[in-house]
Amino acid sequence: MLDVARIRADFPILNRQVHGRRLVYLDNGATTQKPVQVIEALTRFYSLHNANVHRGVHTLSDEATELYEDVRAKVAAFINAHSAAEIVFTRNTTESINLVASGWARRNLRPGDEIVVTAMEHHSNLVPWQLAAAATGARVRAIPFLADGTLDMDNARQVLGSGKARLLAVVHMSNVLGTINPVEELTRLAHDAGALVLVDGAQSVPHLPTDVRELDADFLAFSAHKMLGPTGVGVLWGRRGLLDAMDPYQGGGSMIATVEIEHSTWAETPQKFEAGTPNIADVVAFGAAIDYLLDLGMGNVRAHEVALTRYALEQLAALPETHIFGPAQPEQRGGIITFGYAGLHPHDIAQVLDQYGVAVRAGHHCTQPLHRALNLDVGATTRASLYIYNDRDDIDALVDALGRTGRFFGVTGAHSGSGVPR
Ligand SMILES: Cc1ncc(COP(=O)(O)O)c(C=O)c1O
Repeated sequence: MLDVARIRADFPILNRQVHGRRLVYLDNGATTQKPVQVIEALTRFYSLHNANVHRGVHTLSDEATELYEDVRAKVAAFINAHSAAEIVFTRNTTESINLVASGWARRNLRPGDEIVVTAMEHHSNLVPWQLAAAATGARVRAIPFLADGTLDMDNARQVLGSGKARLLAVVHMSNVLGTINPVEELTRLAHDAGALVLVDGAQSVPHLPTDVRELDADFLAFSAHKMLGPTGVGVLWGRRGLLDAMDPYQGGGSMIATVEIEHSTWAETPQKFEAGTPNIADVVAFGAAIDYLLDLGMGNVRAHEVALTRYALEQLAALPETHIFGPAQPEQRGGIITFGYAGLHPHDIAQVLDQYGVAVRAGHHCTQPLHRALNLDVGATTRASLYIYNDRDDIDALVDALGRTGRFFGVTGAHSGSGVPR
């Protein structure tokens, strides 16, 4: 599997202390830390190759263009896309989804059409569809999830089979429950019903081997910053024919073929969707992040997280006041462990854990409908999320600090209060 000690040596930030303690970084669902290889790729670009892309004929511009386009090809290979032309660089997952909502949904949806989502979507894969629905007269419908955190597939069959579904927008791995949704099966159901499928891969692409040909969906969105890369870079993969038929997202330089005063024609896909100067340096550094993950092997990344998640679930379950959300089996989920503890408010938990150097997230994690469906007495939970540099010591530190948090608040073990189901 993974040599965590060797990996940790590549992440300078993991050497720092927080409140005089070793940093235990368990907020990888929000963003991951960056290895020295990515940091150096960024400074190397600015030190040696910095120029604008697709414009100049001088050497630096050629080099910058080649480095930028090489990463497009690298991303295509990483997810087994047919060609680099299917890869659009955006700012993040959110922008990738908005691009489809704007360029496809607004043009193609009609009153009465349905955009099908799930009750476990991140706001990024919900609000853009609400905007598109408001603009077109379409309706957003959600497939609920069951008590074990898995999707209600009977309902999915019913909703997708209603004859009204035009698009299924579904998260591959929930950023709260950790649930890995059966995207291939859902895609079959949606396609049988004549609907397109957009997969929100923000949490899955960084943690699971991803093959867009096997998924067979129509669009896939993900963010570089959740997979060791810099902030400010996202990816939209789409089927070439669909991208070609879509409206541009923004107008400006670099996305045109010809421009007249009153009208213009567009450049080919994917340039059509990349108006203005892109985030060149960060895209180049994202290439170093992909190299790093390829070097580890995504199968090994997944195996490491399954083993560590199993350990974390066991250790947390041993704390009597803990309630863990999402599927019980590590094979059915990612390394995202959301819990309620001893009736304490998640913000209190996260704040005390921080005093012990343990970084976790507290709140609704941009999933208010999901938290409403959990029927908690506060709309918030605490989330620990794992990645390649986490090990059993980190889990032990979390569990130890949680026990201390309970003692700090004088918890007696009662299940009455915030953060546990009513
Ligand atoms: C499942 C899911 N979708 C979408 C997003 C949005 O990602 P970004 O903020 O990079 O656009 C996130 C980020 O937390 C996420 O977890």
